[in-house]
This record gives sequence, C-alpha cells and structure tokens, in this order.
Amino acid sequence: MTRSGYPRPLPSQWRLDEERQIACDVGHSSARKPIVGFLERMGQQRERVLETPLDNAWRLAEELSREKATDHRRRLAQFFTPPEVARFLARLASTGRAPKRILDPGAGTGILACALTERLTESAHVDAYEIDRDAADLCEQALSHAAKWLETERGVTLTFEVRRDDFVLQNAEYLNPGLYTADVGSKYDVAILNPPYFKLPKSDPRSMAAQSIVHGQPNIYALFMGCAASLLEPGGVMVSITPRSFAAGDYFRRFRRYLFSMIVPEAIHLFGSRRDAFRGDAVLQENVIIRSRRGVPGGSEVVAVSESEGIADLNASEARLVPLRDVVDLASTDITLRIPANDLDDAVVEFLRGWTSSLNSLGLLVSTGPLVASGECNSFVQSRARAQSPFSGCTTSSHLLSGGQLLPTVRCST
Ligand SMILES: C[S@@+](CC[C@H](N)C(=O)[O-])C[C@H]1O[C@@H](n2cnc3c(N)ncnc32)[C@H](O)[C@@H]1O
Repeated sequence: MTRSGYPRPLPSQWRLDEERQIACDVGHSSARKPIVGFLERMGQQRERVLETPLDNAWRLAEELSREKATDHRRRLAQFFTPPEVARFLARLASTGRAPKRILDPGAGTGILACALTERLTESAHVDAYEIDRDAADLCEQALSHAAKWLETERGVTLTFEVRRDDFVLQNAEYLNPGLYTADVGSKYDVAILNPPYFKLPKSDPRSMAAQSIVHGQPNIYALFMGCAASLLEPGGVMVSITPRSFAAGDYFRRFRRYLFSMIVPEAIHLFGSRRDAFRGDAVLQENVIIRSRRGVPGGSEVVAVSESEGIADLNASEARLVPLRDVVDLASTDITLRIPANDLDDAVVEFLRGWTSSLNSLGLLVSTGPLVASGECNSFVQSRARAQSPFSGCTTSSHLLSGGQLLPTVRCST
C-alpha cells in the first residue's frame, strides 16, 4: 500500500498475473520450505524480467569481460559502452521520428540497441552484427530480453536478428562508391554504433575493399562508419561514438569526402577527457559522438555542439548551435571536420580563416607525438604563425593554442 492508502500501482499486467499466481501458490500449499524456495525463485525471475534491456545487456557485457582474456578483448576492441553513454547515444538516435529498422554493427552484447529499445513506443526491428560468437550469443539473449520487456511494459513488438558476420566484409561493396547507386544499400532508418577501432594491415581483405576511400592501413572504425552510413535510407540517422582521428588530416581526406557525401552532421558531443568515455576499460582515446543524417534536400543548416569532461557531466552539457559550414565545409578540398565547442574555438576558427598559406608551402611539419621543447624552432614558428598562419584545419582549438603558443609541437622540416 502507498502512504495515501491506495494500493501501490502495478506497472504491468504481467506483474499483476504473477502476484496473483504467487498468492495462489502460498494459499494452497502447506509445505513452507518449497513455498519459500518458490518465492525466492520467482523473486529472482521477476528481477530478471523486470531488469531494463540496457541493464541486462550491460550485466552480460560485464560477465563477458570477466570471462574473456584481455588480449582477446584487445584484438577485437571489445570495450563496451557504459550505460550512461549508451543512454545519451540512444536519446540522440531517437529524436524526431520513431525508429523502425535499427542497425547495431559491432554490437557486443547489444548495449546500444538495447538502450534504444527502451525508448521505443512502436514496433521495430534490430539487426545486430557481432563477429565474436560468445558476444553474439549474449547479444541474442539481451535482445530477446528486450523483446520480452517491450511486450510486457509497452505492448510493443521487437523483432531482431543477430548476424555472426564480419560487418565490413558483408557490406564491403558499399565502400566503393563507384560500384553502387545511392539507395542500393538503404535499409535502416537508424544506425547506432560504437565500432571496434584498430588499424588493419594493408593486406587485410577489409582494407583492400576500402582502397578507394582510405589508403595504407585504415582504422576499422572508419570502415564501420562508411558501411553504416551507406546502409541508411534518405533521412535516416547515424549516431556513433568513435575516435576523432578522421576529423582532419590527409590520411582520412578521401574518407571524409565519401562520408560527408552521404551524411551531414546534426549534433556533435566532445569528451574533454581522453580517459572518461569508457571508464572501466582504460581506453585512452579522444572520442566524439556524432549524430548525422543521410542527405535530404533542405536538411538542417546548424549543428548542435556540446562538450563534457567525461561521463559525470555528460547530461549537464549545454549544446550551442553552430552554422554547418563552420563545422564541415563541403566545398573545401580538405573537408575537415571542425568542432567549435566554446568561445575560444570560435575565435580560433575565425583566426584560421585569415590564414592563406599551407604548412607545406612554409616548409613545416606538424607532429602529434610527445611535446619536445625546441626553443629556436618554437619562436620561429610563433613569429611565422602570427605573420602567415599556415594551418588549413584543426579539430579543436585546445590542440592548437595554449597561452599564445602553438601546440602540439611544430617542427621545421629541414
Ligand atoms: C568497441 S566494441 C563495442 C560493443 C558495443 N557496440 C557497445 O557499444 O558496447 C566493438 C565490438 O565489435 C565487435 N567486432 C570487431 N570486429 C568486428 C567485425 N569485423 N564485424 C562485426 N563485429 C566486430 C567486437 O567483438 C566488439 O564486440
């Protein structure tokens, strides 16, 4: 009973039936021990059935992490998304129209798909790809729990398929934009992903499949993003948490051209801390969350940019609206993704606009390795920077300017 004297509301018919069943069994049995055992079992079963899809998938992920050797997890980049971050991604993925066909590539135990299912109010289908058999089995378990939960709590039907395949190889044809027409791949209205990230050898079949958009040893996360974007229908949404390395630089230039020919960023969230997005897993990575939409004429001309130090302040972060052209200039040759998250970043974007030279033309190289003090070179660079300002793009201001100095180290090429 509640304090007002009304019976405590039971959230679902399923629970109501179960309470009745328990009451019935208690009333008709005389052996106390079996009843206690039965109640305990029912209690555990109830807890499990009522566990939310995300809690369930996360618990399975923790179990899997305990079971698997660290080097196995590293090899597959099996670092799971903490529930707070998963919820944040799910919220971004479900703004606007209700998701119907959901893709979770590199699903692990299905944490992201499950976070999204908690927001469903209409029937939907999930396709999850997971290459690791054990993770795939748990993903199957998590999604079937989610289906039961949705049926019980919302009367909503969830169907799903867990594909025990290499997501990139299965969809490699879409990595060659010349080979297919734009909507051949379009199957999903939402893709939600925290893909694996590691470099692939040049000879890996996935690198070979992606030759036309990345060169050398591509990082697998970019191939996941490319395939997932290709599989979206027009107006479909992709929400990803990935490293930021694709945002700028020569290495990913062709990839950016390919990616941003399909999707347009709508919301970006930066983590200030390199450690905090995957707290339990000691992942040291600069992460970015992006919601982008598969091109539709007359799409949004602004991008909501937010920033948090880590997980604790994730939901407190306020978004600022930045003109799309300041974030990604599709007319430029570099198509650098700029993420002005604060006033200082705005000032740097403005500052950079005035620069006309390139590093090459000034005979300079930028190293993103450890900072090495080299007095003469630094003062040379600072004076040249003020005079001619050679950078053509950057990800955030904090990487470039600190107390009037250029960071990271700028080395003379001679
Ligand atoms: C970074 S984890 C993220 C898991 C899950 N999406 C999450 O957010 O918790 C990446 C997952 O991708 C899986 N994976 C790695 N390579 C894959 C591939 N080529 N195809 C499908 N899954 C892959 C790994 O086994 C791992 O479970």
